[in-house]
Amino acid sequence: MSDKPVLLITRKLSARTLERAARDYDVRINLEDQVYTPAELLAKCQDVDAVLPCHSEHFSADMVAQLPDRLKIIANHSVGVDHCDLKACKDRGIIVTNTPDVLSDATAEIAILLLLGAARRASEGDRMMRNSEWKHWSPSFMVGSHVTGKTLGIIGMGRVGQAMARCARGFNMDIHYYNRSRLSADKEMGATYHDTIESVLGISNFLSLHCPATPETTGLLNSRRIGLMPDGAVVVNTARGALIDEPALIAALKSGKLAAAGLDVFAKEPGGNPAFAELENIFMLPHIGSATFETRDAMGFRALDNIDAWFAGKQPGDRVA
Ligand code: DGY
Repeated sequence: MSDKPVLLITRKLSARTLERAARDYDVRINLEDQVYTPAELLAKCQDVDAVLPCHSEHFSADMVAQLPDRLKIIANHSVGVDHCDLKACKDRGIIVTNTPDVLSDATAEIAILLLLGAARRASEGDRMMRNSEWKHWSPSFMVGSHVTGKTLGIIGMGRVGQAMARCARGFNMDIHYYNRSRLSADKEMGATYHDTIESVLGISNFLSLHCPATPETTGLLNSRRIGLMPDGAVVVNTARGALIDEPALIAALKSGKLAAAGLDVFAKEPGGNPAFAELENIFMLPHIGSATFETRDAMGFRALDNIDAWFAGKQPGDRVA
């Protein structure tokens, strides 16, 4: 029998991550990669010392209350931790970690893809080509919003928001941001700080959301706030679906108040919102912000670093509870 700690890995992570995990731990891996039901997850957690889950596994207060005493650490393979009840974990003395930094660039790449795709009508054009519907060309055909030199509002100027700002500077965008606190000048890099969300919205031709989903940020972009934005603005969300009041977004996209939206995240995942599919002016992706080979390895390794630290008697670097 192995004397290594028992580690449950709830999804099929990158090959390099699984190889390293199997070298250092007595691993139980969900190689079928089907999302466990809450009951299955609870059952799988009963005889393990550590769990390495993704954002697809929900550790509610009820679930956490039923975890065994031997389970000491939930080392998430995600930067977002809204799927974990952090207070419940803390109360049970269960360490929770995340994987910041390593997915910032990949997520910013997808935010730029969404911004450009929404502004320049990429899904409409792609669909037209695939369906052999491109029958004519004219100067008034498929005209979209210009991106270069426009104002980009960023809500949440953490690591991903800053990476997005770096990319957007390549399009000479004028960057404005709201964050709970103002960044130092070296991180701000010329971006303009606003101390209210409303003030950023008022001048944003493009708006990109980069804050975590919390009770305070749920429904952050609602109809009142959309109403403050310039007519014809474009909204991008790579953070969490919960940040947007989806019916309000649909109404604004239908009325023309907003020109377009680029979305990688949805209130309901997987699946998304079927009402979005009826709107030509939404460019959508299935929550793939961090889905690059390099980033998947880095996320897996970062989660394992946190677990290694804990079992070596050290403080995990990315502890959030
Ligand atoms: C994250 O890391 O939070 C991404 O959304 C993928 O889980």
